[in-house]
Amino acid sequence: MCGIVGYLGNKKAHPILLDGLKKLEYRGYDSAGVALLENNIIKIFKAKGKVSDLEEKIKHVQLSADTGIAHTRWATHGVPNEINAHPHVSQSGKLALVHNGIIENYNVLREKLEQKGYVFYSETDTEVLVKFIEDVYLETGKSLFEAVQLALKRVVGAYAIALISTEMPGSMIIARKGSPLVVGLGKNGEFIVGSDAAPIIRHTKTVYYLDDNEVAFLQKGKEMQVITLDNKRISPLLTELDLSLEELEKGGYDYFMLKEIYEQPRSVYDSMRGRIDTEKQLVRLGGIEPYENHILEADRIIMVGCGTSWHAALVGEYLFEELARIPVETEYGSEFRYRNPIIRPRDVVIGISQSGETADTLAGLRLAKEKGALLLGVCNVVGSSVARETHAGVYTHAGPEIGVASTKAFTAQVTVLTLMALRLGYLKKNIDLNRYENLLCELEYIPEKIERALQSDLLVQQIAREYKNARNFLYLGRGINFPVALEGALKLKEISYIHAEGYPAAEMKHGPIALIDENMPVVVIATKKGNYDKIVSNIQEIKSRNGKIIAVVTEGDKEVARLADHLIEIPETDEMLTPLVATIPLQLLAYHIAVMLGRDVDKPRNLAKSVTVE
Ligand code: F6R
Repeated sequence: MCGIVGYLGNKKAHPILLDGLKKLEYRGYDSAGVALLENNIIKIFKAKGKVSDLEEKIKHVQLSADTGIAHTRWATHGVPNEINAHPHVSQSGKLALVHNGIIENYNVLREKLEQKGYVFYSETDTEVLVKFIEDVYLETGKSLFEAVQLALKRVVGAYAIALISTEMPGSMIIARKGSPLVVGLGKNGEFIVGSDAAPIIRHTKTVYYLDDNEVAFLQKGKEMQVITLDNKRISPLLTELDLSLEELEKGGYDYFMLKEIYEQPRSVYDSMRGRIDTEKQLVRLGGIEPYENHILEADRIIMVGCGTSWHAALVGEYLFEELARIPVETEYGSEFRYRNPIIRPRDVVIGISQSGETADTLAGLRLAKEKGALLLGVCNVVGSSVARETHAGVYTHAGPEIGVASTKAFTAQVTVLTLMALRLGYLKKNIDLNRYENLLCELEYIPEKIERALQSDLLVQQIAREYKNARNFLYLGRGINFPVALEGALKLKEISYIHAEGYPAAEMKHGPIALIDENMPVVVIATKKGNYDKIVSNIQEIKSRNGKIIAVVTEGDKEVARLADHLIEIPETDEMLTPLVATIPLQLLAYHIAVMLGRDVDKPRNLAKSVTVE
């Protein structure tokens, strides 16, 4: 959460910084600010609200700075307002800092600084950090770079920072621990810094992903220097970005979320691309191949994730247990890490995360590593912390997901988990060969079936119109479609702000059935196979209590058709693969209701895409 951008070069900094902030707005959007170093003076502009509010504020100001830092915020310490917005300045006004992360010992530091006469204006940990850096600088008489190193060594918590100083024109110091930070090396010695590569790609594809405990000194026109907190010089391993600008644009869609929903035939295909050898009927997952024996000997697999990624993990549990016959437990990162879980060296822990930066998921993985488990990652963002901190993993290759509500990342995660389950089931000889081959073959049709499921869009819009004013929704599913119900409910609540709950359909009669009346829309995933008869009975129970039934069914369904108020047909597929198709109309339903209610679909209130705080 929170996005930071920095620029150092020969161009005007503020348009580049504002453009970069817009690309990072998905990380937080309650306030924004920029600090520009111009004629040895630091000029600060801040605005509550979105980056466009900041842009509005400075659009008539004459600015020529070629060095600056900027920030878009998701509040952790202190309410969203201009005082708490970044950048924050030091006591002398000579240093300005932007920060993503949390300084856990900021209260102790603040008290000490207050005793020395420092005055604080905001409630943020960032103001403490910049003042602390200046204090170390003045006290020790070391260079500013060394002072940053010394200060960061005394800081507890996570950070990605960018710092400018009036005493250091044409330069910037950046550092990371626990929060992501990338620096792009542009033409003519310019540098563009970002929380991810999105602000950078327009300027250069050559980047360096900072590692934890690294501090970099950037000087216009000079070689970048990277040194650890312990003063070890690093030869930075540069990476060429495999990302295009178009992937970061809306491409004619009103919202990124809709674009990303429509990208799913392609993104699911990309998640499988090169991983299924149709001739030999084999799944190949190069990333985890060296660890396959270890995985095959595992006593159990623990899947860890948060939010939508946790739902994907739960689908994974059904897949692994059914296809590979390996016991699986699915854990919320936040619960797992704090409850002293029993983890043995023969456990394999799979961390599932789109961003690869979710604090709770990462903490769960680190805990499991300490206890000797093998860690695998299933994540989307290349080079992210999950990718780096796990022993091995499989990228989802869904492409950048910008809409805050996760859509294509979910189906890509489920695709990868399906491939993993098939591979392990095959190697363990726990899956019937016919079933295995049929599933491989069927998987290849999934992108096409998603394409067909997308054709329900108009119908879903009509349904959305009818129910957009409902106060509550229930989502029901059984078996592997239970996590789909959870995911459908999450999508609706997070972008439309309508209360929605997902339930295993049979659990309804143990309580939630009391909620059902003519005002309660119930979305039921009632595809053929699996527990079809049972779910038909559940639908009957809702019907006899006058609930409104919106059923997602297999094409040609007759039975549910007689009971449901609305029928959304999706193509038939193997039961184990239905989540990949059945999720689509639920994403569309949430999207259309949110648009009809006038919500900011890509930036729902109180949320941020990448939750890097606990
Ligand atoms: C919901 C959503 C969140 C994320 C969760 C985990 O649409 O996007 O629930 O799924 O914050 O994020 P990642 O997958 O980045 O670990």
